[in-house]
Amino acid sequence: MTPRARIPRPTVKRLSLYLRELEALSDRGLQTVSSKQLGGALGLTDAQVRKDLAFFGQFGHPGIGYSVEELITELRKILGTDRQWNACIVGAGNIGRALMPYTRFRRKGFEIVAVFDSDATVHGQVIAGHKVRPMTDLKHLVPERNILIGIVAVPAAAAQGVADQLIDAGVRGILNFAPVRLEVHDQVSVLSVDFSQSLEQLAFQVSLGLTGSLDERDV
Ligand code: NAI
Repeated sequence: MTPRARIPRPTVKRLSLYLRELEALSDRGLQTVSSKQLGGALGLTDAQVRKDLAFFGQFGHPGIGYSVEELITELRKILGTDRQWNACIVGAGNIGRALMPYTRFRRKGFEIVAVFDSDATVHGQVIAGHKVRPMTDLKHLVPERNILIGIVAVPAAAAQGVADQLIDAGVRGILNFAPVRLEVHDQVSVLSVDFSQSLEQLAFQVSLGLTGSLDERDV
C-alpha cells in the first residue's frame, strides 16, 4: 500500500467519482461490478480503475469483480468519510443559504452543525433548520461541536479574517468559496471552489471547438 501523502491528487479525485458511481449502483441493487463497468460509466479505462485502487490494496475478486458494498466501505474509509465530519458555514448569504438545505452532505458523512454571520440582522434566523449565530459564538462552538471543517462563504475581503478565526478555533480544513487565495499554516488544508474558473475553462474549450470531459480524470 502506498503512503497516503504520495497518492496522486487526480487519483484521490477519481476515488470520489468511483464512490458516487458505486453508491448509485448500490441504490439500483447491484451487488458486484467489474473495473470495466465502473470505468465505462465514468469514461475511464478498466486499467485506470485498477491502477487507482491498487494504491490502497487488493479489493477485487478474480472472475467476479468488486463487491459494490465492500468497495463503498473501503472507499469511505480511504476518503475518511466513514465517520461523521462536523462542519460549519460562515456567511449566511446566497452561497451559504444554497448549501444549508442540501441534505446529501449528511449522506456523505458531513453534517452542518453551525452557521455564523457577522450581520446582526440575520442573527437568530433559522434557515433550513440552521440557526444563524454571531461570529462571537464561533470560538467556543467550534471545539464544543467538534467542528473540523469550515465553509467560507463571505465576501473576498472578509475571507482571510474568517479563515484565521476558524483556524484559531480549531478547524483543520477549509472549503473556500471566496475568490481569494487563503494563507494558512501547514496544519490546515484548504480547498477552493470557483465556478467562474470552471466557466472560463469551459468557455475556452467551447471556443476552440473542443469536446469531451474537462473533469479531472487524467493522471
Ligand atoms: P452574500 O453577500 O450573499 O453573502 C455573504 C455573507 O457573508 C453575508 O451574509 C454577510 O453578512 C456575511 N459576512 C460578510 N463579512 C463577514 C465576516 N467578516 N464574517 C462573517 N460573515 C460575514 O455573498 P454570496 O453571494 O453568498 O457570496 C459569498 C462568497 O462566495 C463571495 O466571496 C463570492 O464572491 C463567492 N462566490 C463564489 C462562487 C464560487 O464559484 N466559488 C460563486 C459565487 C460567489
